[in-house]
Amino acid sequence: MALTDFDLVLFGGGGDLSMRKLIPALYARDRAGDLPATAQIICVGRNERSTAEFIETVNENAKSHISEKTFSQNVWDKFCARIKYIALDASDATTYQPLNDVLRDSSSVTRVFYLATPPTLFASICHNLSARGLATEQTRVVLEKPLGRDLASAKQINQEVSQVFKESQIYRIDHYLGKEAVQNLLALRFGNVLFEPLWRREWISDVQITIAEELGVGNRMGYYETSGALRDMMQNHLLQLLCIVAMEPPLSVTPDAVRDEKLKVLRSLKPFTQNTLAKNVVRGQYRAGHVNGVAVPAYRQEKTADPDSNTETFVAVKAEIDTWRWAGVPFYLRTGKRMADQLAEIVVRFKSIPHSIFAQSTSSFQPNCLVIRLQPDDGLQLNLMAKTPGDGMRLKPVELELDFAETFKAPRMDAYERLLLDVLRGQLTLFMRSDELEAAWEWVEPILRYWEQEGNEPLPYASGTWGPAASSSLIGRDGLQWREEALPE
Ligand code: BG6
Repeated sequence: MALTDFDLVLFGGGGDLSMRKLIPALYARDRAGDLPATAQIICVGRNERSTAEFIETVNENAKSHISEKTFSQNVWDKFCARIKYIALDASDATTYQPLNDVLRDSSSVTRVFYLATPPTLFASICHNLSARGLATEQTRVVLEKPLGRDLASAKQINQEVSQVFKESQIYRIDHYLGKEAVQNLLALRFGNVLFEPLWRREWISDVQITIAEELGVGNRMGYYETSGALRDMMQNHLLQLLCIVAMEPPLSVTPDAVRDEKLKVLRSLKPFTQNTLAKNVVRGQYRAGHVNGVAVPAYRQEKTADPDSNTETFVAVKAEIDTWRWAGVPFYLRTGKRMADQLAEIVVRFKSIPHSIFAQSTSSFQPNCLVIRLQPDDGLQLNLMAKTPGDGMRLKPVELELDFAETFKAPRMDAYERLLLDVLRGQLTLFMRSDELEAAWEWVEPILRYWEQEGNEPLPYASGTWGPAASSSLIGRDGLQWREEALPE
């Protein structure tokens, strides 16, 4: 579907997200021919500088996040000509006039405000847009995470933003929902009959969801110290993945049909008790170590770090979903920085066979396992038992591999490319509704409070490992192992 002409305003336009993700994503869609000839990208920031100076920064910074393979100087020059820079104080409506001056009539041109700023500014930006008559009925607003620091602040943001924009105008972004593999999970579950009958407590033993990063906090210390792994990854990305795995079939892929089902999952998460908070949540912080053979410092020794910081860089949780479909099936979720590998995957482990007709005992049968790989590349792996060739009947685990890049040989779209296109098209399915956001905070909040009360320190783990030993015990207590621990050497 071709896009209508648009004015896209990026608040925080000179910031890290804009340079690393948003501008490169918009360039990629321009290169693909998706952007209308006169579409404008208006970057807003605090610093006084001209558009020409801003474009110099874009040249130095954003350009380095575009792969050489997809870079064309000609396309880039035309793309940069769309960019305008405006300096204003986001919290002061009297400074907004330059924005009024560049925006075109929102009844003929799609108008989007993308707030890639700290969440503390969301409410005042929305009110200021309204005061300046810029938040019209047709306008869309995109809210980048973190959407609050806890339930109360998330509610406050929702409430303030809703004074200016209707729910149908608000796009709360979780870029994991824009990943190819997440969409493929919907296709796998609801475009095939094969798995759905087995997708339940009778046949599934456990589900593991891992987002592991080799990178440390880098130059985002200021933000990360206000966040930590629970707020940065678990409350949003991991819970959204859990929703897609666990939700009932939606009636269609229309926004509310999908979001209603995800909401039911979030509301069915078993609330923590003092006992399960102590047992089922592990928090860690990386120490010095080696990642890919390179020595890296401890979190507390990173540039501008607080040497006494207790911010967690790792969290693992055992979650349970109180529904007929999932009662008793543990969902183990974990994420960490400076881990042994860079990967994101969902592992659905099926139950063991009930009885062996072969000479081998049932314990020598590896349970079937479906691995949905999101990163580094997207693909599927199905583990089955097969007979080894030759005389006799010996069974061995084998893998069916599906590599989507190899299968489709089509260019991959980054999550931000897809989600920006969806915003510009007015397609809300892959964005979170206010009630989902609040339900996710509601479940996570007791963990935050528990950590505050206990005042306990995060457990140390060496960089380049899979997190603190307590993470293995969390799953080991149930007689299970994380997938990398269960793999043959
Ligand atoms: C972001 C977090 O939302 O997701 C970052 O703020 C994290 O800390 C990033 O590194 C991971 O995203 P991806 O797509 O690189 O896995």
